[in-house]
Amino acid sequence: MGTIDVLFLFLFFFFISTMYAAEECLISICGRGNKSIPIRFPFRLQGQQPQHCGYPGFNLTCYSQSITVLEVPYSGDFFVRQINYDTQEILLYDPDNCLPRRLLNFNLSGTPFVSAFYQNYTFLSCPPSLTKSRFTSIDCLSNSTSSVLATSSSGLANSMFSSCEIISTLEIPVSGPVQYDEGFPNNLDKDIHLTWFLPDCSICEAQGGKCGLKSNTSREIDCYYAPGKGSSNDGLQVFRIICLSIVVPAITCAVCIACFACFRDRNRHGNTQRGSIAVAAAPEPAIVAMGLDETTIESYQKVVLGESRRLPGPNDTTCPICLAEYCSKETLRCIPECKHCFHADCIDEWLRLNGTCPVCRNTPSPAQANLDSV
Ligand SMILES: *[C@@H]1O[C@H](CO)[C@@H](O)[C@H](O)[C@H]1NC(C)=O
Ligand SMILES: *[C@@H]1O[C@H](CO)[C@@H](O)[C@H](O)[C@H]1NC(C)=O
Ligand SMILES: *[C@@H]1O[C@H](CO)[C@@H](O)[C@H](O)[C@H]1NC(C)=O
Ligand SMILES: *[C@@H]1O[C@H](CO)[C@@H](O)[C@H](O)[C@H]1NC(C)=O
Ligand SMILES: *[C@@H]1O[C@H](CO)[C@@H](O)[C@H](O)[C@H]1NC(C)=O
Ligand SMILES: *[C@@H]1O[C@H](CO)[C@@H](O)[C@H](O)[C@H]1NC(C)=O
Repeated sequence: MGTIDVLFLFLFFFFISTMYAAEECLISICGRGNKSIPIRFPFRLQGQQPQHCGYPGFNLTCYSQSITVLEVPYSGDFFVRQINYDTQEILLYDPDNCLPRRLLNFNLSGTPFVSAFYQNYTFLSCPPSLTKSRFTSIDCLSNSTSSVLATSSSGLANSMFSSCEIISTLEIPVSGPVQYDEGFPNNLDKDIHLTWFLPDCSICEAQGGKCGLKSNTSREIDCYYAPGKGSSNDGLQVFRIICLSIVVPAITCAVCIACFACFRDRNRHGNTQRGSIAVAAAPEPAIVAMGLDETTIESYQKVVLGESRRLPGPNDTTCPICLAEYCSKETLRCIPECKHCFHADCIDEWLRLNGTCPVCRNTPSPAQANLDSV
């Protein structure tokens, strides 16, 4: 009987390792700690994930294993602050910390990205004496002989016409609708918020699935629900071939050996075979790598913020993951051991990839997690 166990064990490990090899579209992570960005469909890391793991136009590069870079064809490289797969948003910033300079020459042609909101801004170059006292100039564009200002108010721009020179007037992507003329706002330093409409994975993501291309030659997308299957259709094909060419003959062979052995030893036959098949049929848990499973995550306490927005535990008024301030009625989730809280959406995504608290790096102990989830 020992021979059958060994045979099954061997096949089982062979099977698992081949599945790993076939799975190329797993999530990549660029960066460490609270700055890490998970990269998966429609994005792909050039050089690390094959072309069919991403959608055309969504190439990213991971620079020195810590900074995610998006190349905008007519405007150069931008660093990626954050990608929100649920809302299909990407936040970009300028490596040189002078976003206004990049906005003066910003062109999204040839990319799948658009901004939800645009605003016309006029950039003016004024004598430093004029602006010192009254207006906020853009420091990184100004020098000792000229101060650069930007305004969304054409009236204000025209009133400055006599003393200042207009550099240019252009449509600039902004993060929200501008309701009133803001004078010379200081807000062009904020990250660029962009979104994309194709591929539309928002429904799939909202249902807990993962998007992927149907095949490496089409642009059609499909929604996958099984963990780890990702967007690799190649993977699925290899998987099927393995099933047909190895597992089926192996099981046939094993059954033959078992039947043969059955004649010699009737008593132990049933148990061994049933036990072994149960093992071979349950490879899923091995694929979930570092993160926590859904049951454990769901077992952590959820809090809906009241009007007072008072938080339990040692928590700030902003979510350390997305940096947005908490609003009343938002759902937060707290990690049981350290009592750190986050937007539920943010921390869930994190915990699926990483089993530690993003703030204090405590690992919720398995005992605690199991206890909570019972
Ligand atoms: C994305 O990467 C692929 C393969 O490396 C390349 O053929 C394609 O031109 C790249 N697209 C962009 C927009 O850089
Ligand atoms: C962006 O670049 C494309 C290609 O060079 C050009 O046709 C288009 O006019 C540019 N758009 C703006 C707003 O500059
Ligand atoms: C910006 O100005 C142009 C030309 O005056 C106009 O066509 C466009 O609608 C304006 N865009 C916004 C967002 O106001
Ligand atoms: C200051 O900046 C203006 C344009 O912004 C440029 O024309 C000028 O040469 C600069 N002066 C110095 C001293 O760098
Ligand atoms: C697409 O996948 C097939 C196998 O599934 C492979 O032979 C072919 O080279 C791939 N094509 C591209 C462009 O990657
Ligand atoms: C990320 O970590 C650095 C130091 O490790 C800290 O200064 C920064 O505030 C953290 N950011 C967030 C969003 O938690």
